Amino acid sequence: MLDLKSRLADRAAGKESSPIRELLKYMKIEDMISLGGGYPNPDTFVFDRVDVRFKDGSRSSLEGSELTVASQYGASDAHAGLRDELIAWHRGKDGVELDASQLVVTNGSQESLFIMPYLFANPDDSIALSEPAYPGALSAFKSFTKHFVSVPLDESGMDTTALENELGRIADAGGRLPKFIYTVPSGHNPGGVALSLPRREHMMRIAQRFDVLVLEDDPYQLVKLDDSPVLPSLQSMDTEGRVVRLDSFSKIFAPGLRIGYASGPPEIIRQFVLFKQSSNLHTSTFIQALLHKYMTSAGHDAFRAHIEKNCEFYRANRDAMIQGAREFLPPAVTFNVPTEGMFIWFVLPEACDARRMVDEQCEERLVLLVPGGAFSTTGALKNCMRASFSMVSPERIREGMKRFGEMVGSELERSH
Ligand SMILES: Cc1ncc(COP(=O)(O)O)c(C=O)c1O
Repeated sequence: MLDLKSRLADRAAGKESSPIRELLKYMKIEDMISLGGGYPNPDTFVFDRVDVRFKDGSRSSLEGSELTVASQYGASDAHAGLRDELIAWHRGKDGVELDASQLVVTNGSQESLFIMPYLFANPDDSIALSEPAYPGALSAFKSFTKHFVSVPLDESGMDTTALENELGRIADAGGRLPKFIYTVPSGHNPGGVALSLPRREHMMRIAQRFDVLVLEDDPYQLVKLDDSPVLPSLQSMDTEGRVVRLDSFSKIFAPGLRIGYASGPPEIIRQFVLFKQSSNLHTSTFIQALLHKYMTSAGHDAFRAHIEKNCEFYRANRDAMIQGAREFLPPAVTFNVPTEGMFIWFVLPEACDARRMVDEQCEERLVLLVPGGAFSTTGALKNCMRASFSMVSPERIREGMKRFGEMVGSELERSH
């Protein structure tokens, strides 16, 4: 077990559990007349019964005690039924057996991207990541520190050799090593690449060698676009309790529900729970109960089948984008064929200015991509762009690539 105390940021050190929540254990004693709780009485709640109809035609309802639980305040870590379901889901998906103390349900992965630097990053600490990086993570991290150790990303994911060299350089100079390494190992947003197995193993060796934590943010793990196997998670390779893993239901269930879970070493998950106690008490019990209902009534196999069907949908879109890109983009524009996720990262010739292309041409040509600067800690990546193939039909994607090709053509002419 790693020493947690020495790693915590000043703001998180010494944080204690809510004194009222600590009393909950006494409420369970038989014949206790509790005048201590502050919960509203369930008799006053509005719902009588909630019926849900799923797209596969099946129906389910929340009623009686399930509905009371769904409508009432709940535990800060998880709805008890959902926790059991998630432990089984995680075992089936990753082959990792989690104890109840190793899991906390969160308001999507985004909440954990905020909690992790809250717990570990003082303003003079740094976080290691690859560039380009997910802007939601950058925004959360920048709330706590402006210091990043950034290394490039290539078609095999984060360049772990560059990471090792960079950390070695910092250590040799007696500098402060990053508090954690942030990685999106499947269907990287925005890079559209997967971290290869050798690099996953290398990243774990690096974490061990330099004694740093790893934040594994994996919302696209199951959004598979080809038949390649799901690679082992970093968490599954963790023998020392260094990895905090984030799973999200946004890309496989419904993002508006805001539900995901963080899992990892019990002492870190306990810190996540303490954070939730003081920020939002817990993720909506109603939403947790709804996900629980779906997972138990449909079953994990049907859930997996639903996800796989959606993957076919995304695969057709990806294929349309790749075909369009091959047909309409100048050969100097490079890109990767993603095996998971929803994004393709286009690297244009150095002379191109992606921000200028959007500002000057997107209204006229009616095509929009995100300029690369949004994915950099320093505003670099000026000649790169992210395209998403999730929301547009294959026909429109093809037309979009044609317009993008014309946009690149004009920019190249302009910059010559
Ligand atoms: C890499 C990555 N991490 C986290 C998130 C946030 O996911 P959630 O909806 O679970 O908060 C996203 C959403 O786009 C993402 O792409």
